[in-house]
Formats: sequence, C-alpha cells, structure tokens
Amino acid sequence: MNEGHARLCSSPEWAAHIQGEILPSLTRHADLGADMIEIGPGPGAATEWLRHRVRRLTAQEVDPAAAAALAGKYPGGNVAVVAGDAADLSFPDESFDSAGSFTMLHHVPTPALQNKILAEVLRVLKPGGVLIGSDSLASDDLHHFHAGDTYNPVDPAWLLGRLQTLGFGEITIIVDETVKFIARKPAGCGRRRAGPDAEAAACRISES
Ligand SMILES: C[S@@+](CC[C@H](N)C(=O)[O-])C[C@H]1O[C@@H](n2cnc3c(N)ncnc32)[C@H](O)[C@@H]1O
Repeated sequence: MNEGHARLCSSPEWAAHIQGEILPSLTRHADLGADMIEIGPGPGAATEWLRHRVRRLTAQEVDPAAAAALAGKYPGGNVAVVAGDAADLSFPDESFDSAGSFTMLHHVPTPALQNKILAEVLRVLKPGGVLIGSDSLASDDLHHFHAGDTYNPVDPAWLLGRLQTLGFGEITIIVDETVKFIARKPAGCGRRRAGPDAEAAACRISES
C-alpha cells in the first residue's frame, strides 16, 4: 500500500466505516460459524470486529510487516495471523465455516490471481460455508489514490461470473458506493457429501 492508503486503512474513520456499515450489512444474512479466515486484513479494521463474532479467526496477510504488526495486536487471543499469499493457502480443503475479503481484491495485480484467490477460498471453505466481502469500485479518484500502488479494481459483473464459474452458489452482489458480495459453497460440494460425479458438477474449481 502507498502511504496515503496505509494511513486511511489504519484510521478510526476507516474502522468505523468497515465496522459500522460494511460488516453489519454483510453478516445480517450470513452465519459466520466458528472458524473464519480473513484474507488481506491489513491493519485489521475488519479483524477487530470479526474476532468477537467467531471462535477462531485466521488472518492471511501477504505483507510480512503488516502480518507481524497485526499478530502483535493479538497475542494469545483467538486471532491467528498467517503471513503469506491468499492465492496459495496452506490450509487443507474444508477448513473454515466462513471467509472474508475486505478492500483487498483491488490490491491483487491480475485477474488471474484474483481468480486463484477466489478458488482457494472455495477450496478451504466447508460445504455450506460462506464468503463475504466488499471492495472499492473503479473511479478516477480511486486510481489517483493508488499512485505507486497496485490498482486492479474488480468489475462486479466479472466477479459474479467468476464466483459462479468457480462453483459458488447463492451469490449476491450488491453495487452501491462499493461492491459487496456474499456467496456460498454448495452443501453438496465436498468429498464426504457427494460422489465424484456430483462433486465435479457442483465444484468446477479444477477446470477454472
Ligand atoms: C487496502 S488493504 C485492506 C485492509 C483491510 N482488509 C481493510 O479493509 O481495512 C489490502 C490488504 O490486502 C493485502 N493483500 C494484497 N494481496 C494479498 C494477497 N495475495 N494475499 C493476502 N493479502 C493480500 C495487502 O497487503 C493489504 O494489507
């Protein structure tokens, strides 16, 4: 992140926006369950809110310094910070009840990598698990704000198509000042609950 971006994401105003507006509207219709993974937590505006609503929160952050800073905030608590790329998660299939991605996809440099991240999220979700997320929409202001930084905003129609093609179901995309999304891993999408043919039909991850 560039300096302005890092300042904004660490500010009380940003935390109030994420915690007061984005997260309550996303979780109104989504049960987070006990074990959640958050990808791209940055300074932790969403982490702080989510950790009170799940038993265990895993936060996967690609920037080692940001990961170390976040881990330092939660010693011995229910937040486990993992330094590494969300496009290559180290967790086994079906590890989490829910996943969250907030204001991070536009920091991923290519659509192929964004797609890989969504596929990884689907893989580590349990059948019936839910992905919730939000991101910034493309604009001239947002582009200028990302001077010297990665700027690759997701197009909501692209996002809908990718989620659906990867094998998510019950997809909701809300477009207002931001794009918000909720998508579920189908309950039949897992080794234990479906035979190989049914799984292939429900989970097209490997074909994408
Ligand atoms: C703009 S910040 C958003 C932070 C926080 N989610 C929020 O909404 O306040 C984006 C974060 O995503 C992280 N990030 C970008 N690409 C990532 C990846 N491939 N895997 C994990 N984290 C990533 C960045 O390092 C940065 O901390």
